[in-house]
Amino acid sequence: MTRYLVLLGPPGVGKGTQAKILSERTGLAHISSGDLFRENLKNQTELGKMAQTYMSRGELVPDDVTIAMIRQRLSRPDCAVGAILDGFPRTPAQADALDAMLQEFKGCVDAVPFITAAEDVLVERLSGRWTCRAHGHIFNEKFNPPQKTGVCDFDGSELYQRDDDKAETVKRRIHVYLEQTSPLIAYYRDQGKLIEIDGMHSIEQVSQSLLTALKMQSS
Ligand code: AP5
Ligand code: MG
Repeated sequence: MTRYLVLLGPPGVGKGTQAKILSERTGLAHISSGDLFRENLKNQTELGKMAQTYMSRGELVPDDVTIAMIRQRLSRPDCAVGAILDGFPRTPAQADALDAMLQEFKGCVDAVPFITAAEDVLVERLSGRWTCRAHGHIFNEKFNPPQKTGVCDFDGSELYQRDDDKAETVKRRIHVYLEQTSPLIAYYRDQGKLIEIDGMHSIEQVSQSLLTALKMQSS
């Protein structure tokens, strides 16, 4: 059955971490809008260079280009089984566009896990995050350290700290989330799709809560 899930939650709450785990355990494709922008920047595409001007300030990339990028990604064959959307939608306009897009693919948003954590925890997690250059695997120097400092456990590539994880940019991102993305909580709650997940526990405990709430079998 084709399933589309939207992972909602503030910066640093663990959307990327949980999306990767859910994707491995369920076979659903993982679509991260932030990773797609960063991949474009790595390849020095016009989209990547444009997105970077917003990302470095902690602002949202304009809706039209973001929506077009996600539409293209959803059209790829690996999404035929469904997808976990991580970081998209982030505005009411993006949520409307997603509903319209999924209708074209004969689907709809099935469930919206909304992961929560206290703001000081978000800041602490982001300040210790290390990301792999090759495939975006996510580590944390305190909560999920790699076996060898600075090296990805999965593909041996270099780990780096994201530019937008600087303290003042993190503050801006949280502010932008509260202002522009938090209206989606009511949007999906009103549709009966929102599932609140307490993100204050360990990575594995949060994964278990997600799998249980979504009633998905771990493979
Ligand atoms: P994006 O890359 O999506 O960043 P974000 O939403 O700010 O979220 P993060 O990736 O920072 O956090 P996360 O929730 O994925 O947490 P993670 O799993 O890494 O977007 C970046 C930028 O791109 C935006 O600011 C914007 O400019 C642009 N953009 C993206 N999408 C857009 C859109 N739709 N529209 C417009 N612009 C868009 O975990 C964080 C850390 O915590 C890691 O170190 C991890 O190991 C650790 N951790 C995770 N879970 C736990 C746990 N349970 N316990 C302890 N540590 C944990
Ligand atoms: Mg992320």
